[in-house]
Amino acid sequence: MLQKQNDPDLVRDLNYVWHPCTQMKDYETVPPLLIERAEGIYLYDKEGRRYMDVISSWWVNLLGHNHPRLNAAIKAQLEKMAHVLFAGVTHGPAVRLAESLVRLSPPGLTKVFFSDNGSTSVEVAVKLSLQYWAQTGQGRRRKFVYLKDAYHGETLGALSLCGIDLFREKFQDVLMDNLEVEGPDCYRCPYGLKRESCNAECFEAMEKAVERNSADIAGAIVEPLVQGAAGMKMYSPVYLRKLEDLCRSYGIHLILDEVAVAFGRTGSLFVCGELGLNPTFLCLSKGITSGYLPLAATLVEEKIYRAFYDEYSTRKMFLHSHSYTANPLACACANETLSLLLENDFLAGLGPKVRALGEQGRKLEELPRCGEFRQTGMIGAAELVEDKGTKKPFAFERRVGHQIYQEGLRRGVFMRPLGNVIYFIPPLTISADEIETMIGAARDSIRAVLQK
Ligand SMILES: Cc1ncc(COP(=O)(O)O)c(C=O)c1O
Repeated sequence: MLQKQNDPDLVRDLNYVWHPCTQMKDYETVPPLLIERAEGIYLYDKEGRRYMDVISSWWVNLLGHNHPRLNAAIKAQLEKMAHVLFAGVTHGPAVRLAESLVRLSPPGLTKVFFSDNGSTSVEVAVKLSLQYWAQTGQGRRRKFVYLKDAYHGETLGALSLCGIDLFREKFQDVLMDNLEVEGPDCYRCPYGLKRESCNAECFEAMEKAVERNSADIAGAIVEPLVQGAAGMKMYSPVYLRKLEDLCRSYGIHLILDEVAVAFGRTGSLFVCGELGLNPTFLCLSKGITSGYLPLAATLVEEKIYRAFYDEYSTRKMFLHSHSYTANPLACACANETLSLLLENDFLAGLGPKVRALGEQGRKLEELPRCGEFRQTGMIGAAELVEDKGTKKPFAFERRVGHQIYQEGLRRGVFMRPLGNVIYFIPPLTISADEIETMIGAARDSIRAVLQK
């Protein structure tokens, strides 16, 4: 047993708490980890057992837990002001952060609208896009194109852009009427091509959908390079270049949702910057505070901002707010996070770790049930299949990932597989040795469950 199941806090948890994305009945037999503190890449439970946080606490933690400089930045801000509303008021931490984000992102993005989580950063982009079209005489443009298997959050607007049936099915009837398009599926590529060398032939589905519906389309949204919640499905940058061209030629908005991939995960600060893409909207959250506090930002092009800028009587302003918009503690932490990422060539220094993740990760492919190990920068994922030849997935009911999660805990590694995909998105501060330990523990856990 990993921790005492009769711990009073665990008993009270089951009595009073409802956890996200969880069948609560599971906790009768596999209770949640009762974590008391965290340090670097490790979480510590009440008995002092440690677990490597290889998924960065839902992909948010970039620089390790309990980071002295992030702690100090928040404490210094706390001494001055914890929070203040952001309408009719501004403050230094938010202004500094907005300025930095504009300076560091592609040149077309000139304004920052703050909110407080990934879903709201997407909601903001969607609402801004809709209102932009309404205010520029093209109110017919109300649909967004999104990819099969996409994930952009779970509030109803964001869920309307989600291409994962498991999340959508219960709410289908109340979601916005958007356009789902078959996206890249590189492991099971229907064209028989490889993501490293293809010309994104699968883009034809997007081309056709936009061509057929162009007059009704407000924008297209994608998770650049990695579809995270889909199981870290990775695809070619060629797809993104084609999408940018298509959006430009039809004059529709391009929304890049970098909530999961920005701030160094792929090796660069922003994927759009790395690939030279110019989105209309850029959605950021998660790593923006290195996993300390909730914060999000939607960056927009100047032409969007200008369409809202007018006399009060025209009612063109953007009526959207969250109580904790641009929370000063979160902004101070984000500013320090950016400083740490930009200092001492931190991102360039990730090279050896990226190589270590690739070298270690590819060894998983030797397992008889590992169909593919894929990698983009510091994100790695092993897709387990029942049969490597046919790539047949394990049935949902077998809960292979959940069993591997439990085996991982016994080996001191906290994973949270997505179905049959065991993935790694550790804090960027992980060492090459720790990468070896992480992958080794995953391999042993997979073997323990699949008996091979
Ligand atoms: C690409 C992407 N967009 C949006 C979200 C939603 O973010 P949040 O959970 O902070 O609402 C997520 C969360 O995983 C995500 O991966």
